[in-house]
Amino acid sequence: MNKRIAVLVSGGGTNLQALIDAQARGELGGGQICAVIASKPGVFALERAERAGIPGYVAARKDYPSSQAFTAALAGKLRELNIDLVVLAGFMVILTGEMVWAFPNAILNVHPSLIPSFCGEGCYGLHVHEKALEYGVKVTGATVHFVSEECDGGPIVLQKAVDILEGDTPETLQRRVMEQAEWAILPQAVALFCQDRLRVEGRTVHILPPRP
Ligand code: GAR
Repeated sequence: MNKRIAVLVSGGGTNLQALIDAQARGELGGGQICAVIASKPGVFALERAERAGIPGYVAARKDYPSSQAFTAALAGKLRELNIDLVVLAGFMVILTGEMVWAFPNAILNVHPSLIPSFCGEGCYGLHVHEKALEYGVKVTGATVHFVSEECDGGPIVLQKAVDILEGDTPETLQRRVMEQAEWAILPQAVALFCQDRLRVEGRTVHILPPRP
């Protein structure tokens, strides 16, 4: 049966766009994006959803007394929508255990570095690339992983390396990591999930061959 996907966003939504485009090309493993949920109103990602005819919702942390109450309400909404896979695509609000318990091994996150480098609390968006440049690494990249209760610590599904070039700024590096890594591996990981080809064993995600 086709999987129902919800994409959670906070900003421009270029990763959401990569998923929408992959679905239009028939490359999302039969998965269907049924909802886009933004952490604040007015973000461009919601416009991308509207243009693609996908229902958009806003779930703002400030409307709830605690992170836990926010997460529980969000998980409730996702269950009500019969969602099979939750994709965090630049979602900048930390969720509590309630979400992981509601969707065990069914939440994917894209992070703009090769985890376990440059990740964890406070390491998101442009900060990740600032840190990579400060450290002086020559290779960075992106990771898609299952979400566990540890921030950026869940089992890794796919990673792709990207070279750092002389003269890079956080902005040029962010763009190259998106173009060369994130926009490719996020739709690939979602497709593998939708085809039931991911098997989690401890920290390792096994990728099963396509079914005949
Ligand atoms: C992406 O680079 C994504 O990897 C990052 O935020 C950006 C969102 O861009 N996510 C994190 O840093 C999460 N820790 P987008 O809205 O254009 O997809």
